[in-house]
Formats: sequence, structure tokens, C-alpha cells
Amino acid sequence: MPKISENGGVRARPFPPGPDELKWLEQGLRTVGFFSKLGRSQLGAVLPFMLMVECPKGFKICEEGGPGDGFYLIYKGKVSITKKGWTKPVAVLEEGEFFGEMALLFGQPRTATATTSDATQLFCLSAEDFQRMVQQHPEMARSIKRIAEARRLELAHA
Ligand code: CMP
Repeated sequence: MPKISENGGVRARPFPPGPDELKWLEQGLRTVGFFSKLGRSQLGAVLPFMLMVECPKGFKICEEGGPGDGFYLIYKGKVSITKKGWTKPVAVLEEGEFFGEMALLFGQPRTATATTSDATQLFCLSAEDFQRMVQQHPEMARSIKRIAEARRLELAHA
């Protein structure tokens, strides 16, 4: 999870989502991405564990080679994924996309560095809550794994 930082009052400390963010999770995400396969009660089981962080532009959320301590879903803003030795970003992820799943799923260090390229709000799950979520929801685990495998291939073939 991001380290606590007092960047001009910007909160990089996890805090509970408010009503608007919960609505976005419940409604928006049910139509796209990995939450779409969940029923209402399954979704209800995951939501209480989701916290939020607000990060300024240029904030490093996780670093290549570092520990897999959390999983992140972008609510607002943009996150650039970079890798040492690459001249261009591996990817720029936007609203509704997630990152940080590879270290957790494959039990390995972070494959890349994630830095905000705009002021960004993220939902986050601790490593423990993420593991519990994928164990309890195999269909969700499968869809996250499919994306993680595709990302791994992209990194290998660069
Ligand atoms: P993880 O390795 O835990 O931390 C860095 C994250 O960057 C990684 O998980 C993925 O979520 C993300 N990432 C790595 N490679 C790609 C890629 N090819 N496309 C998009 N995101 C990626």
C-alpha cells in the first residue's frame, strides 16, 4: 500500500470510500472489468475491504522489484507503468483499470513501477484481502489471471 505522505494535504493514506465512490464500484464496475462477473451479494462481500488513496501527479505507488503489498483499481486519473531499460512506458492505465495483481498472483516482486501521471484516486486492497477475494471468487480470479498472463507476455516479448 502507498506510504503515508503529506503532499500538500493530499491523502496518500488509505481511507474508506464515500457514497459516490461506492456507487461507482457497484454500478459502473458491474458492467466492465473484473467485477462484472460478481452477483450483488458477492460484490457486497468485497466492497467493505476496499479503501481509497488520493495521490498527486508523479506519485510512485509501487516500484519494480519491490514487495507485492497491495492491489489497485483506478477510480479517477492515470497511472504510468514503466520498466527499467524501456524507453517508453509499458502502459498508461486509466479509470476502471487495475494494477498490482501480478506480484500477488504469481508470488514474485513487482514487475514494473507504477507512477501517477495525473492527480489520481485509487481503490486499494491489501495483499491479504486480495488473496481472500481471489480464493472466495474463483471466477473473478480467472478473469484477473487472464489479464495478468497477457501482461506477462507483453513484458517478455519486448
Ligand atoms: P505488479 O507486478 O504487482 O506491479 C507492477 C504492475 O504493473 C503489475 O503488477 C501490473 O499490474 C502492471 N503491469 C505490468 N506489465 C503490464 C503491462 N504489459 N500492461 C499493463 N500493466 C502492466
